[in-house]
Amino acid sequence: MNGLFKERLDTVFIRRGISTHRRVRRLLQKHNVCVNGSRVLESGFRLNLTLDKISIDGIKKNLAPDIYLMMNKQADSICSTKDDGLYKTVYSFVPKKYFEYAKENSLQKIHTVGRLDTDTEGLLIFTTNGDFSHSLANPLFHVKKTYYVELEKTESEAQRKILEEKFSEGFFIPEEKNEKEFISRPSILEWNSESSCRLTITEGKFHQVKRMFSAQGNKVVFLKRISIGSLALDEKLAPGNSRELSNEELSLLFK
Ligand code: URA
Repeated sequence: MNGLFKERLDTVFIRRGISTHRRVRRLLQKHNVCVNGSRVLESGFRLNLTLDKISIDGIKKNLAPDIYLMMNKQADSICSTKDDGLYKTVYSFVPKKYFEYAKENSLQKIHTVGRLDTDTEGLLIFTTNGDFSHSLANPLFHVKKTYYVELEKTESEAQRKILEEKFSEGFFIPEEKNEKEFISRPSILEWNSESSCRLTITEGKFHQVKRMFSAQGNKVVFLKRISIGSLALDEKLAPGNSRELSNEELSLLFK
């Protein structure tokens, strides 16, 4: 799994419960932490969990690589671990072997990076790496997410230009179902036709894309996430299917 991919030693040690944030440096100074037989003193040393042999004071540590999957979420599935009786959860589409692998290797639970609405399709990432999901989903990091959108009403050429400008500046979004009103951050709107477009946003508020268009007097009738950061949805994946991310894809997300 993910043979070439490397991560900082301190984040791996903390996540796997080998050390706490405050104690990593001391652990490296006081104990003989070896990677492939050579002592490591730098907490920023980059580990490859697939290939590197790690030991602490001569005792081998088996640190299984984390799981990173992309799914093409199908509509009518929910981003929740609990079945609501109406729709299948997205976890029911993840092959069982990944849950077994996570359990056998004491990894964190498989979870999604952010969420998509029940009727939204497209790119959904699953992982056991909580640091990774946190940094991608955290609004402070402003990770770009691009959606393909189909709208109920057509927009004239003049109105499409106006909307492009509005979206690029940001505008007021009223509250919805106990979710606060907000001013949208600048986003990029690119029209494909009079009623379909791509929208790139750097935040992920509740029903964000739908609320943005609704605030402009239109309605989203189809929504599909097509990329997160530089990672594009593999269009060869049929709805409901998933596959492991390649090293190249992971490198795009860890940049
Ligand atoms: N914006 C929405 O309105 N819904 C989603 O599922 C994702 C973004």
